[in-house]
Amino acid sequence: MIRLGVLVSGGGTNLQAILDAIAAGQLDAEVAVVVSNKKEAGGLARAAKAGVPTVVVPHGDYPDRRAFDAALVAVLRERGVEWVVLAGFMRLLTEVFLEAFALRTVNIHPALLPAFPGVDGQRQALAYGVRVAGCTVHLVDRGTDTGPIVAQAVVPVLPDDDEESLKARILVEEHALLPTVLQWIAAGKVQIETSPDGRPRVRVTGAKTAFGLA
Ligand code: GRF
Repeated sequence: MIRLGVLVSGGGTNLQAILDAIAAGQLDAEVAVVVSNKKEAGGLARAAKAGVPTVVVPHGDYPDRRAFDAALVAVLRERGVEWVVLAGFMRLLTEVFLEAFALRTVNIHPALLPAFPGVDGQRQALAYGVRVAGCTVHLVDRGTDTGPIVAQAVVPVLPDDDEESLKARILVEEHALLPTVLQWIAAGKVQIETSPDGRPRVRVTGAKTAFGLA
């Protein structure tokens, strides 16, 4: 059982997927707290409905990003959070946060990294004209969407796709991939190793993926 803190800024459908997986007995985790920088984030209502405590930390209340991050860390530590999930959290984190949860922060990004990092990954993919798109779950480092990749899921890009249809197709995969990866973490299947270039890299052992055993 791992204690999660989930950070949201928006609708929270990925948070919902986590809550649903826990309720269905597919994810051996507890969401200790859901934190948002926006009081109107739909994810807060989803958390409340599931009986999960929520905290709003408005970024505008802090003089700079480091002070905001320190406030986030305080909330997460107070609740005994072991792993942090960025589920549509739209703020960049500083080393104040990343040192507190070094290699224990997971992000879901709606593109096949390292292609199309940053905002609007789906729009970037469509504009580029790629034939496959998808989503990536990775550990967070100091860069924007640059940290070690844990898992990816792929969808086709169809000739008539617009941003909305591609987003929706990717989102279905996000909702499956994120709880799956969190369960791998809960089960101790995710290890960090060092790649030949000295960067941390993830090794997944004994887990089932769409392409067979990892
Ligand atoms: C998702 O597409 C996620 O990949 C991105 O932000 C979106 C959040 O959606 N980081 P939701 O709030 O989970 O519905």
